[in-house]
Amino acid sequence: MGVKEIFESMDYGPAPESAAEALAWLVDQGDRFGHFIGGDWTEVGETFESRNPATGEVLAHLTQGSAKDVDAAVKAARRAQPRWAKLGGPGRARVLYALARLVQKHARLLAVLETMDNGKPIRESRDIDVPLVARHFYYHAGLAQLIDAEAPGMEPLGVCGQVIPWNFPLLMLAWKVAPAIAAGNTVVLKPAEYTSLTALCFADICRQAGVPKGVVNIVTGDGRVGEMIVAHEGVDKVAFTGSTEVGRKIREATAGQGKSLTLELGGKGPYIVFDDADLDSAVEGLVDAIWFNQGQVCCAGSRLLVQEGVAERFIAKLKARMDRLRVGNPLDKCIDVGAVVDPVQLDTIRALVEGSGGEVYRAACDLPEGCFYPPTLITGLAPADRLMQEEIFGPILVSCTFRTPDEAVALANNTRYGLAASVWTENINLALGVAPRLVAGVVWVNGTNMFDAAAGFGGVRESGFGREGGWEGLSAYLKPAGKPKALKPVAAMSGKVDALGEGLDRTAKLFVGGKQARPDGGYSKAVFSPSGGLLGHVGTGNRKDIRNAVEAAQGAKGWSGTTGHLRAQILYYIAENLEARAAEFAARIDAMVGGKGGKTEVQQTIARLFTYAAWADKYAGDLRSVPIRGMALAVREPVGVIGALCPDEAPLLGLVSVMAPAIAMGNRVVLVPSEPFPLAATDFYQVLETSDVPGGVVNIVTGSHAELAGTMASHLDVEAVWSFSSTDLSREIEAKSAGNLKRTWVNNARARDWTGPEGEGRAFLDHATEIKTVWVPYGE
Ligand code: NAI
Repeated sequence: MGVKEIFESMDYGPAPESAAEALAWLVDQGDRFGHFIGGDWTEVGETFESRNPATGEVLAHLTQGSAKDVDAAVKAARRAQPRWAKLGGPGRARVLYALARLVQKHARLLAVLETMDNGKPIRESRDIDVPLVARHFYYHAGLAQLIDAEAPGMEPLGVCGQVIPWNFPLLMLAWKVAPAIAAGNTVVLKPAEYTSLTALCFADICRQAGVPKGVVNIVTGDGRVGEMIVAHEGVDKVAFTGSTEVGRKIREATAGQGKSLTLELGGKGPYIVFDDADLDSAVEGLVDAIWFNQGQVCCAGSRLLVQEGVAERFIAKLKARMDRLRVGNPLDKCIDVGAVVDPVQLDTIRALVEGSGGEVYRAACDLPEGCFYPPTLITGLAPADRLMQEEIFGPILVSCTFRTPDEAVALANNTRYGLAASVWTENINLALGVAPRLVAGVVWVNGTNMFDAAAGFGGVRESGFGREGGWEGLSAYLKPAGKPKALKPVAAMSGKVDALGEGLDRTAKLFVGGKQARPDGGYSKAVFSPSGGLLGHVGTGNRKDIRNAVEAAQGAKGWSGTTGHLRAQILYYIAENLEARAAEFAARIDAMVGGKGGKTEVQQTIARLFTYAAWADKYAGDLRSVPIRGMALAVREPVGVIGALCPDEAPLLGLVSVMAPAIAMGNRVVLVPSEPFPLAATDFYQVLETSDVPGGVVNIVTGSHAELAGTMASHLDVEAVWSFSSTDLSREIEAKSAGNLKRTWVNNARARDWTGPEGEGRAFLDHATEIKTVWVPYGE
């Protein structure tokens, strides 16, 4: 018998991992758990059962958190926070290092416990989840060590409320806890109700590692506990991973509260196979993309797009591979696909597949009794079919074919999500040509489901915002140090319209798509000088004007594909043309605001344009050192269309401080200028007209901040809204942004000094860009 025959006929022998140690740990704890608050276990309260989905056996009884519990946890975290922050980065680094080491020391216990609680194959929890957890703490021990030197002027946010899902229970905990505590915050974390055991085991590890009491608090329970944490007024930041539906609710619930927020939500990742791909590798990749963790992965390659010429061959290979997948006891080291997390999730999966069209192929595997679902492929679906659009979160792959790279990109992007994508081809030009065109936070080239602490992970569109991992992940747990100056509304000057003024003959228009436009409503508003003289009129923009401006901005997509060098030249050109009219602008500002500050403001504005011209070709991203054969490019991409309410305090400098970083990074903008002092902006569009700025890149709509904020925030084609208005509009903007989960940057409590360093710099560039992590093969 040859080797081939032996391999083909060889029966596999089960190799189950022992559950003894994990069960012993549960028994040690009395298998009834309270919460972990202030470094101690609380009394067991009203409990619910935590089951092993593979066997149905009850593993433990967990306490359903109450409002009192959440309050106690937040208070413990609050008490602990100042001292933890004061310990300094290097002091915290030692604690994070101890956590990393202890995770490694208890690796087997954690892996077995995770598998029993979640149903994922032990191969995965042992080889992927737990090593990545340790790596995360190591990496963040490093960030803590460096933070004081590398992030000067920044401080922790305070108390972080963190709510995590059940698909990677311990790994998601690590992604949340490590950056938060590295940055000097303290946390109140709620694990998912199906899978809390490794979080409780981690609490034990925190004690061994010398994590000071109250730095990490864990409260168990269902979504109601999550809601209470999110709503608690003592929480400064909310970090959530889970469904888009709940993410949206959290966005609405936190609107206007001044809480920092990051959301990692769902996905429907395209897995694109070109006809020149190494098909066998692509099949193997697909096993990892969609059958890893039973497909319960937000970045799963759940949508196969395969080029027509190889589709038949590829699907045949895939089906043959599917038939070889072993489904069964997750503790068995030979198992590829384990149990679905809970019967509720199994019912959801069944219902979705039963209602589907297309041709359903189920792997010819032995399916054990219980919470198991066979690897399934659905072919022949149309791009708009429900299952091509909805996240199933189960071992179900849907697929369709494409003919050309353009069609592949269009299909890939035909989704409300934007988390991750895989591209398979042997042609480097094609792979690296397609990667930038995919609307996704992560792109894997000839690979899939690769993660690392050094590489940012997170989505765009309805997959959420914020990144986990890397410096960008850490920065989501920091804020500028110092007490913020309170916002002070700036009122418009008043006067009488019948008073003759120097600007009577000038009626400023809106600026949309590179052209001056009359306001849709046909209304305009008088602008007066401090002495009550009439300076002119400005159009009162309405929702229709905003819609037109957004359409123009969306039409100017070409700007995002221009080079930084070109954008720099145009910013310099704007500066040059402004300089040529400096005296006129200075006089205008003085007339509006009073005093003699106009000249200085114009010079500061020119300097600001120079600053962002300088940055335009110097903020493209960097390279991440990841422990695989390859590298991860952290590419800074423009956010898209940014709607911004410009500062009231500095009519020209404020507008340019917002516009320049946005367009320098390749965004298109819809600007609502200073409400009390709009005339500098309307003069400024004449400068734009003469500076080679393509139509639609900068649009200016004058009008009421309060009225236009909601329109911009609810517009589905606006990708981000910034508000530097002197009126606090954060509540409306944040609540309405939940529709398409756009990014928001609002000054709810913080007034900025636009003339100083907080009026420019990296914060603006960071908000103007989103990091796309592109994993490419590199090296041997
Ligand atoms: P979920 O989003 O409801 O649960 C995630 C976490 O949020 C859990 O800890 C839960 O207790 C908590 N939670 C629920 N409602 C909350 C609220 N109103 N406020 C604060 N916290 C709340 O996800 P679920 O119900 O477990 O799964 C439903 C679907 O969500 C899945 O089928 C899947 O499509 C998607 N999902 C996506 C995940 C991802 O990583 N993107 C993870 C888990 C689920």
